[in-house]
Formats: sequence, structure tokens, C-alpha cells
Amino acid sequence: MTNQTNDSLIAIKGLRKAFGKQKVLDGINLQVAKGETVAVLGRSGGGKSVLLKLLIRLQTPDSGSIRIAGEEITRLEEKQLNDVRKKIGFLFQQAALYDSLTVEENVAFPLRRHTNQSAAEQKDRVHELLADVEMDQDLEKLPSQISGGMQKRVGLARALALDPEILLFDEPTAGLDPITATEIGNLILELKKKRHLSAIVVTHDVQGAKAYSDRMVLLHNGTIQAEGSLAELQRSEDGFVAQFVGYGSK
Ligand SMILES: Nc1ncnc2c1ncn2[C@@H]1O[C@H](COP(=O)(O)OP(=O)(O)OP(=O)(O)O)[C@@H](O)[C@H]1O
Ligand SMILES: [Mg+2]
Repeated sequence: MTNQTNDSLIAIKGLRKAFGKQKVLDGINLQVAKGETVAVLGRSGGGKSVLLKLLIRLQTPDSGSIRIAGEEITRLEEKQLNDVRKKIGFLFQQAALYDSLTVEENVAFPLRRHTNQSAAEQKDRVHELLADVEMDQDLEKLPSQISGGMQKRVGLARALALDPEILLFDEPTAGLDPITATEIGNLILELKKKRHLSAIVVTHDVQGAKAYSDRMVLLHNGTIQAEGSLAELQRSEDGFVAQFVGYGSK
């Protein structure tokens, strides 16, 4: 049943999640429109990764609503969840590649699992995806044989394999050199322009996020404490917000 009141592809309302006595998310409201990229900033341990995990139901919320393309996913059964997950490309904070599979096999994995493509079609698609992240030279290597930044790029290629409508990226540029980080940022921008994707990108790189996001939100004390462009956040009257995004810096 689609019951959207507006055109947001992702609509989160009153989302709460605690671990024991620790309230990590305490009433999150966030909407992401089709074609929009939202950067999520916040202190380490603030619940950013938990938020992304709730969005693909790797974790289950205590209360609140998450609608993806109009569908309330907090109450879905595993089988229906798989259909929703197919629409979402997820890049984990640790690239989370399969250790025993090569670079090529890692990216082919979702194609094998979810499509009827022939081996030749899969191979072509994998090479195209890896070329986009400049990782088409190390197809036969295992994750343990490539650097952390390279693993991240392979994870990104894998997240894009099924042509998702939604991207959830957990620190896609952390641990990368500035040039590669900028390239990943550009890739996010390009994807958005070409394919009109919606994305939530968790990052500590405020300046990088400025380049590729339409809007930034600051997660603090379990809620979205501020929301807007970088310039707007820098002008915030809330001292914590302004300090977090570095007031005065360009
Ligand atoms: N499965 C879990 N069981 C218990 N506590 C958890 C679990 N997952 C996360 N937490 C706790 O929730 C809090 C938020 O964790 P989360 O990983 O979302 O932080 P984060 O904002 O992503 O931080 P960072 O920027 O360092 O990645 C932390 O205190 C963490 O210990
Ligand atoms: Mg995290």
C-alpha cells in the first residue's frame, strides 16, 4: 500500500532505538526526497551507523516509522524486506567484503543472487562497476590483499551492482587519501545527476559533504539537532552546531 503524503522516498518519523538503558536514537524525524542527497554528521558513537542499519532492518527499531517508497518497513516480514533491500545499495562503515571471495566475485555476488544475468553479462557489468571506481586492475585479489581505501571502493561498486534507487553510505571516504576521497565524492554527485538517486551519506568530512550533498543534518543526543546547508549550520545560534561544522571556515 502506498500512502505517501509527499514525494519523499525515505520518510522517518519518531524513530527510537535503545540498547539497554542507553537511548541511542530518541525520536529521529528525517525525510529524503527522490534525487536528494543528505549528509548525516555527528559525534562518534552518536548513532549514525545504527540509523542506517535500521533503514535496512539489520536492526529493529523500538518505535517509530520508516517508510521507503511509501512502504512501512518496520513491520515487514523477512521475504518482503528482501524486496525492499534490493532497492537499496548499502556501503558499510567497514567495507564488509567477503574475505574468501576475490574483488570480482564480491561485486558479482549480488548479481548472482538477485538477477538472471548470464555469466558473460555479469562479467561485463562487474568490470563496468569496478572501472567506475578505478578498481578494474585487481580483479583476482582477495580483500586481504588490497588496501582499506581500495576495499571501500570495491564495496561501493558492489553497492551499485543492482542499480539501486537509494544509497546508504557509511563513511564512504573515511581512511582515503584526499584525492581518492574527492573522487568518491564526485562519483556520488555523478550518480545523482545521471540516475536521480536518493542517498544518505554518513560522514565526518564536512567539506567533502558540502560538495556532494543537497542538505546536511546533525545528529546529536539522539535527535536531528540541526538541518540545512553548511553555511546555514555555520550560522546556527546553537553553539554546538556552529562549532561542530567549524564556524567561519569556508
Ligand atoms: N548491537 C549493538 N548493541 C549494543 N550497543 C550498540 C549496538 N550497536 C550500536 N551500539 C551502541 O550505539 C551507539 C551508537 O553507535 P553507532 O555505531 O551508531 O555510532 P556512530 O555514530 O556510527 O559512531 P562513529 O562515528 O564512531 O561510527 C554506541 O554507543 C554503540 O556502542
Ligand atoms: Mg558509525
